[in-house]
Amino acid sequence: MDKSNNNPARMLEFLLAPMDGLTRASFRSICFDYGADGATTEMIQSLAYGRAKKPMSQTFMEVLVRYPNERNLAAQLIGSDPAAMAESARRLEALGRFDAIDINMGCPARKVVGSGNGAALMKTPDRAVAVMGAVRDATTLPVRLKLRLGWDAAHITAPFLVEQAESMGFESVTLHGRTREQMYLGSVDTVAIRTICDAVRIPVYANGGITCAGDALAFLRDTHAAGVAIGRAALKSPWIFEDIATLRRGGTVAQRRAPERVALLIRLAALTCGHRPENVAICEMRRFCGWILAGLTGYEAVLAGLNHIVTLEAFRALLEGYLDDLEQQGDLELHSELLPEMTLDTVSHRQARRMAKWA
Ligand SMILES: Cc1cc2nc3c(=O)[nH]c(=O)nc-3n(C[C@H](O)[C@H](O)[C@H](O)COP(=O)(O)O)c2cc1C
Repeated sequence: MDKSNNNPARMLEFLLAPMDGLTRASFRSICFDYGADGATTEMIQSLAYGRAKKPMSQTFMEVLVRYPNERNLAAQLIGSDPAAMAESARRLEALGRFDAIDINMGCPARKVVGSGNGAALMKTPDRAVAVMGAVRDATTLPVRLKLRLGWDAAHITAPFLVEQAESMGFESVTLHGRTREQMYLGSVDTVAIRTICDAVRIPVYANGGITCAGDALAFLRDTHAAGVAIGRAALKSPWIFEDIATLRRGGTVAQRRAPERVALLIRLAALTCGHRPENVAICEMRRFCGWILAGLTGYEAVLAGLNHIVTLEAFRALLEGYLDDLEQQGDLELHSELLPEMTLDTVSHRQARRMAKWA
């Protein structure tokens, strides 16, 4: 019997990994348009959500938005109190909006782990199992687990926890091939992921460090995983899911040109205005414009212009005007020499600071 995770009879899956403050319904929706097979909401604090009185806060309402084209969407809970996690799972199921519940055991933020949550559960496996069991028993929805390899090199608990997930009937596991000590830096341990994938039958999605479609396929091959979850690379290239499909068909992928990038950003802004106040949504677009326009001639001027804009109409006018200029110059291609030094880590450092403040 084929015990490997990468069973040819099973469809490989390419998921968008959750990213707090970034992968809301609007961005996920764009990734689904490009062919993502599934996604997860940002993490929801179970202590706060499980006890939230109605009407629910604006923050929860936004995180819980689901757009119609979102397939295979899990709601993610974070917490280490089994009762609060169970209550939150019940509430999420009652919304009738999600396909699964995901448990976060990967968040490395100092204040999160300081209260025993996220990746801290990886060094308290008994508590982790109690949380998993409580959520499992509280809902009839499929339950998923997202975890790291362990707390540090001396505490590699993922093999045990993945086995537990399998024996409790979890639907799948997403495994980030780093420890908490590594945060978002350093190499991803593909061998450790493969060893786990080969030992269990529960689908394992490999995660960490993918930068492009070719990487995703190599990672899949090297880890024997049932699929991959892509985080930061999708922020800069949400079309990565389409590129993966192209490579799998034997095609070649090309850099996306200015018209597609601009259209994508205008659509993302409009979708974000659907779940955030307009001025906040447009302010948030600065980060996405920085990632997606980088490499086009004169994109820095657009970023500077965004500092004075707070409406969708003005955003659209700025970007369409920029595209007209590029068209008139016949300069719609990306110039790799204009790309700033922007690695996956650039995204996480900036965000890590934000998360540290938030946590
Ligand atoms: C800014 C940021 C926010 C994140 N927020 C979450 C989160 O809410 N829940 C979660 O399970 N993982 C979260 N992660 C981890 C990612 O899902 C993913 O595991 C990690 O970034 C490694 O994948 P990548 O190298 O493809 O980005 C976050 C990562 C980043 C960079």
